[in-house]
Amino acid sequence: MFHSENKLRTSWDSLVLAVTVFAVIEIPLSMVFDLSSTLVAAAVRIILGVFVADILVHFNTGFYRLGKTVVKRSAVALRYLKGWFWLDLLAALPIGLALKYFVPSAATLLFLLSLNPLLKLIHSGTTLYRIGGARVNPAILRLVLLVFWILLVAHLVSCGWILISGNPQGLASVPLYIRAFYWTITTLTTIGYGDITPQGEFQTVFVIFIELLGAGMYGMIIGNIANLIANIDIAKSQYKGRLDKINAFLNYRNIPHPLQRKINDYYSYLWESRRGYDESAVLQDLPIALKTTVALQINRGIIEKVPLFQTASEDLIREIVLNLNPVVFTPGDMIVTAGEVGFEMYFISQGSVDVLSADEQTAYATLTAGQFFGEIALLLSMPRTATIRAREYCDLYRLEKDNFERVIQHYPDFAERINELAEKRKAEIEEIQKSKESEIPEKIEDIQAEHTGNAVNLRWNWVRDLRHYEVIKRIPTTGKWTYVEKNALEPNITDPNPDPDRSTMYRIRAIKTTGPGAWSKPVVIEAAPEESET
Ligand code: CMP
Repeated sequence: MFHSENKLRTSWDSLVLAVTVFAVIEIPLSMVFDLSSTLVAAAVRIILGVFVADILVHFNTGFYRLGKTVVKRSAVALRYLKGWFWLDLLAALPIGLALKYFVPSAATLLFLLSLNPLLKLIHSGTTLYRIGGARVNPAILRLVLLVFWILLVAHLVSCGWILISGNPQGLASVPLYIRAFYWTITTLTTIGYGDITPQGEFQTVFVIFIELLGAGMYGMIIGNIANLIANIDIAKSQYKGRLDKINAFLNYRNIPHPLQRKINDYYSYLWESRRGYDESAVLQDLPIALKTTVALQINRGIIEKVPLFQTASEDLIREIVLNLNPVVFTPGDMIVTAGEVGFEMYFISQGSVDVLSADEQTAYATLTAGQFFGEIALLLSMPRTATIRAREYCDLYRLEKDNFERVIQHYPDFAERINELAEKRKAEIEEIQKSKESEIPEKIEDIQAEHTGNAVNLRWNWVRDLRHYEVIKRIPTTGKWTYVEKNALEPNITDPNPDPDRSTMYRIRAIKTTGPGAWSKPVVIEAAPEESET
């Protein structure tokens, strides 16, 4: 018993298909031309032999039912006898030969009856799909089949025309066939130049029949070809349909052109990177085992890229891969915002992102394909430590918090490694933040003020890495602050014109290259006494 998926069986089907095609071409030719009788006899033997053998092969091939291969001989035989057997038997009978022998004068009838191997072609489509379906686009196969049927009909009609119109000009076989084929094509395509016309009633009736056939075929071909060509790339036609619909909506809503451009660019990216398919939606209907296998296959790229996965166990990878959702971000998108609560982490499959401080002024790192982010908020239950911005189009895989926590609980090794990295990253950020803080000048605290003659002298603590100090005072009469000194290089100045009658308020701040520090608390100096004491 053969298995229905057996490779030998597929090769045999290919051979039967080839012999059937040969038979339907050769038999009509042998009816209208005087082919060598040994050649015809050999052909008939081959056709007969292969067709009979095919019947035997069918009786010995199991079939697929409800997910199981049935190989029980009686079940196989019953199924075949109830189905294709009779057609295969009829196709295998050498009717043409028998008729030629018994009724040599009934030419037309003989022609029609001897075409019985054509019956075998009825299931040639199924055979062709079985042989090439997995490898070749089904729409292309249908197109090939359509062209084959058109050419076959043209061939049969040409031979029929030669049979009934004879060879009045006494042409050789090849020119005679070419002329008949030319007549057939002009008639079937409804062109009908009229250079070859029927003579007598019989030929006229034949031509009427062929013209009707041509008209029918013409409509069928036009309809079919348009449909087939549209379906050759079904993903592309669906994608184009979706894009047209979106663009119509954007125009209707008067969305600004730059935004429309961005949306179109996003769709082009979706097309280039994944043929417009939404992978998770495609997998949704599959049973869990199949879904895991397909998900593993699809996500193999990301698994190979992420070093963290390379040492992980099969089970862990399975668990993670099943829960990864693909998401796309466009250049400049904020994927994660510092300070927010986090509900997911991301693995980068394609593209790169910047890790930025909350004010987006400092870049902590750039992460690329194979790296991940967003784990700190999930692991340490704290707000996002950084903002993540897409540098270009990014293909990411998102892992939700619940799934992440389940994985962490079940796989302590993995948890430990990811924790280490999270701590390291957190420490890095804290270090950078600390060093940034030290760049801000400290507040001036320790100010001493005294009268020296009519002037006021101010001294304060010294500040590191400084550009200069600024000192302001409050004009007692107006209440406004004004500069006393804008560019003091030493931590002391003298105000030569303090208000002699009222107390004066001063404030001081330090300036570094990174900017100014905070103003000090006001220091008040009373009006100078007559004897110049503070
Ligand atoms: P999370 O705090 O959840 O969100 C921001 C993410 O940026 C953070 O998790 C880390 O994954 C990532 N991140 C923070 N600091 C660094 C760093 N120094 N280098 C690389 N990535 C970082």
